[in-house]
Amino acid sequence: MKKIVVALITVVAFAGTAFAADVIDMKKGVKFTHKKHQELLKDCKKCHEKAPGKIEGLGKEWAHKTCKGCHETGKKGPATCKGCHP
Ligand code: HEC
Ligand code: HEC
Ligand code: HEC
Repeated sequence: MKKIVVALITVVAFAGTAFAADVIDMKKGVKFTHKKHQELLKDCKKCHEKAPGKIEGLGKEWAHKTCKGCHETGKKGPATCKGCHP
């Protein structure tokens, strides 16, 4: 348990600096403000079900379900095609 906590703290501490880009370029012109979402949502698990890093099964289906899904339910963030694909 202790090891896991330390590992998590390390990941969080590094995510904002070395490892994670502030903005991640995704397919079809999507500029994903990763850092802003991290700060806004706090919970990494909203997108990283297992552990922070590459997302298994990332693709159109995942993105439309996860990204658009939250924007629609929360009524915040773009939910139209052009809002994400300029
Ligand atoms: C709203 C969704 C979302 C949230 C919340 C989120 N991430 Fe991510 N994160 C992503 C996506 C999308 C990628 C790109 C994944 C890929 O390319 O496979 C990513 C990539 C990463 C990467 C890989 C490095 C990189 O820049 O590509 C790290 C590390 C990471 N996230 C850490 C975190 C941590 C730590 C948190 C919580 C503080 C967090 N993320 C919260 C969506 C999110
Ligand atoms: C909340 C943001 C969001 C909204 C709204 C959204 N998309 Fe996407 N869409 C994405 C992301 C992110 C990806 C890329 C996932 C990836 O990198 O694999 C994507 C991928 C796609 C792809 C696949 C591109 C490829 O090369 O694989 C198509 C086509 C697409 N979207 C069309 C649409 C259409 C049409 C709409 C409106 C009905 C729409 N999207 C609305 C975020 C969004
Ligand atoms: C759990 C909720 C949630 C998830 C998941 C989520 N978002 Fe968001 N997103 C938000 C909220 C809330 C805002 C509004 C921020 C604001 O208005 O300041 C937002 C704003 C945005 C914006 C508008 C520009 C900006 O940075 O404010 C874009 C583009 C966006 N999100 C793309 C994405 C993509 C792409 C994904 C998936 C990889 C994603 N979001 C996943 C909650 C979410």
